[in-house]
Amino acid sequence: MKQAAILTYGCQMNVNESAKIKNILEKMGYGITEDIYASDVVFLNTCTVREGAAAQIYGKIGELKSIKRDRGTIIGVTGCFAQEQGAELIRRFPAVDIVMGNQNIGQIPDLLTSILKDRKNPVVAIQDENRLPGETEADFGDGVSASIAISYGCDNFCAYCIVPYVRGRERSVPVKSILKTAEDYLRKGCKEILLLGQNVNSYGKDLGDGTNFAGLLKALGRLPGEFLIRFVSPHPRDFTPELMDVIAADEKIARCIHLPLQSGSTRILKRMNRGYGKEEYLALATAFRQKIPGIALTTDIIVGFPGEEEEDFLDTLDVVQKAAFDNAFMFMYSVRRGTRAAEMDGQIEEEIKKERLRRLMDVQNRLSKKSSEAYQGKMVKVLVEGPSKKNKAMQTGRTSTNKIVLFAGSEDLKGRFVNIHIQTCKTWTLYGNIT
Ligand code: SAH
Ligand code: SF4
Ligand code: F3S
Repeated sequence: MKQAAILTYGCQMNVNESAKIKNILEKMGYGITEDIYASDVVFLNTCTVREGAAAQIYGKIGELKSIKRDRGTIIGVTGCFAQEQGAELIRRFPAVDIVMGNQNIGQIPDLLTSILKDRKNPVVAIQDENRLPGETEADFGDGVSASIAISYGCDNFCAYCIVPYVRGRERSVPVKSILKTAEDYLRKGCKEILLLGQNVNSYGKDLGDGTNFAGLLKALGRLPGEFLIRFVSPHPRDFTPELMDVIAADEKIARCIHLPLQSGSTRILKRMNRGYGKEEYLALATAFRQKIPGIALTTDIIVGFPGEEEEDFLDTLDVVQKAAFDNAFMFMYSVRRGTRAAEMDGQIEEEIKKERLRRLMDVQNRLSKKSSEAYQGKMVKVLVEGPSKKNKAMQTGRTSTNKIVLFAGSEDLKGRFVNIHIQTCKTWTLYGNIT
């Protein structure tokens, strides 16, 4: 049996699309392996959101080149970096056989056939980035969690971000199709549905028929059985009172909301084109904490955006303290060619970015630790994901607030909701006993 490997970089959307690639290759008769040295086909599913993401990919292509020399492995590059580079990627790396945009995944059988017929002519398929891709199953195959892309692309054009350029205009998947996919996953036993989009809460705007994210959540919440609904990423600007009420009213919707802040300075937020200021953001965070007691809030923050002064950075620290995030992804601003911020004056020195990132991480790590410690002695409901990788006698699971919990228990608990009495709280993991 021929073997194929898929290496995934980047965000949940890429993880979802890698699952689609895997399903297509399996249907074509390939066995799926993690071992690139034993593969006849390797797809790199790439990211280009920051410069570091691209650098990793160069290294991997180099490694694949030598494997190709030994066993004729077909090298496919897909994802956002492939979409951005197009044919240029083949000029730079002649070993690459296929360059393919995420929306062209459905063409894999044709592209592979064409390469197998003529190994000398690489193929590039990066068209249709503004079309809704065909439906392909994206089951992770773990039987507990499944993700559904509810919208593709982004119209926000945050000044630092390359995503709208590589993922095209925002287009929503019809509600009916999402509901059907969710029903299928639930029937198969999945207990967690992760809704994906670059801006999930502007879902439906392009459909022009009154469809919105609140309505979608309501409809999903009505599906029978016990399960959790999660979603990433919403945009702070697109939370309506109606949407917040729907979330507050339905316990199936996970008690963890990702609220990307990016900066705490109103002046910088304006330069970023984020559509909200410091006070509006804080009001939103407060409203969530008041409406839904015990809710966890997580965020994304960029330090060193062009023009960021010490005073702006202090505003970011201030919002972080006040919003008391449970967790945060923190990044140094990275110049992306073609974006508006790349052309802005006031680019910040690396040393200053590094120093600000370190200070921000210090503050956030203390908050994350405090947030975990609040679980001491509490009873929490946990969705069991299966044995811990490090210690098979321990099971791992997550709370609705997305805290990782480890406890001693048998493997057959996988996919079940259990109550755990928390005994020990580390910053990133809680430990407890099943009751
Ligand atoms: N659509 C999602 C995810 C965007 S990419 C959202 O809007 O939340 C994930 C995160 O990467 C962003 O939230 C941002 O914090 C960060 N990011 C995007 N472009 C960046 C850049 N040029 N430099 C540094 N971080 C960036
Ligand atoms: Fe990028 Fe902004 Fe769109 Fe998120 S909302 S993908 S940060 S442009
Ligand atoms: Fe990266 Fe593309 Fe996701 S640039 S973060 S893989 S949308």
